[in-house]
Amino acid sequence: MATTLDYPESFSIAGRSLSPPLVLSPMAGVTDSPFRRIAKRCGGLGLIVTEFISVEGLTRGNLRSHQMMKFRPEERPIAIQIFGYDEVRMRWAAEIAEEAGADFVDINCGCPAKKVVHGGGGSNLLRDLPQLRKILTEVKRAISIPMTVKIRAGWDDKSINAVEVARLIEDCGGSMVTLHGRTRVQGYKGFADWDLVRDIKQAVRIPVSGSGDILTPADAMRRFDETGCDAVHIGRGAIANPYIFRQTWETMNGLEAYRPSPAELHKLLLDFRDHLREDMPERGVIGRMKMLSAQMLRGVAGGATLRTAVLRSQTVEEMLPLFDEYFALAEKYGIDEQLQSAPAEDAQLMECGV
Ligand SMILES: Cc1cc2nc3c(=O)[nH]c(=O)nc-3n(C[C@H](O)[C@H](O)[C@H](O)COP(=O)(O)O)c2cc1C
Repeated sequence: MATTLDYPESFSIAGRSLSPPLVLSPMAGVTDSPFRRIAKRCGGLGLIVTEFISVEGLTRGNLRSHQMMKFRPEERPIAIQIFGYDEVRMRWAAEIAEEAGADFVDINCGCPAKKVVHGGGGSNLLRDLPQLRKILTEVKRAISIPMTVKIRAGWDDKSINAVEVARLIEDCGGSMVTLHGRTRVQGYKGFADWDLVRDIKQAVRIPVSGSGDILTPADAMRRFDETGCDAVHIGRGAIANPYIFRQTWETMNGLEAYRPSPAELHKLLLDFRDHLREDMPERGVIGRMKMLSAQMLRGVAGGATLRTAVLRSQTVEEMLPLFDEYFALAEKYGIDEQLQSAPAEDAQLMECGV
């Protein structure tokens, strides 16, 4: 069993220390400001990354793209993630992100969605390294905040080039590289390859974060142990359990992990609703409430039918008595943490929300 001294207390991006070394991974359709605020409140977060934002949208004055850049002061430190292909638009969008107050600009080189890849961006850049170099050089020259990059392992299993790409990122002045160790072609099948995180860590001097399949504090600790990475990103595991960062941080420090009461989780869901209502029309609120409920309402015996009923609701008001019932069950029978953190088969989440 590892001792508490084995885990980093913080990580540093371009000289700025961030603690804990735990990052909310960017998720389109999920890590909007309302979700980021509830995740942050649960504790244990060293850095937050926004959903990916289209540079085409940003540089053509698309209102929604600009709204996606907005964040509240309590969400800091925050990286705004952008995606695209054209180096001039990428540079311009990075400047807009800096003006919006981002602490970091993160470049997306991982999104596998057809729409994104056909436009030349996301994981397509892993097979167009001359263009990636152009983008990174332009962006780096234009902004004074640090530039970070998130990549996948490679395009397919015959072209795994994450180490080469990480070296390129370092060479172009990138201040951190994050690897989600699946290929573009792999999508979400199988498991992320964390050996590649270790290989990158040994190949570059900039900080390295790993991403993929962390569902429990033990998963995160194992990845720190195995790879020597500077930080870990947690995505889907944080939707099912926004307390995962705090719990991981406590476990890393030899403390007992906090267990939120059903009443706290209930309140979190309702606060999420209130945050959503500040930011979007009711139709959007319903969709986002379903997204979080589908993930969060797990781990309670007899809770599945209630979750299904929530997902069928036409209005948020219809969901409220179902939440009451669910959390009453949770109070009575408890929440099974293993079930709660099991990979969600019915998640219906697609990378980049496409
Ligand atoms: C719904 C969804 C949306 C995602 N959107 C993005 C995105 O916008 N940008 C990005 O770099 N990665 C995105 N990802 C990838 C995650 O950040 C993360 O690398 C991946 O899900 C593996 O980590 P996990 O197993 O902890 O979820 C998305 C993943 C999911 C499930």
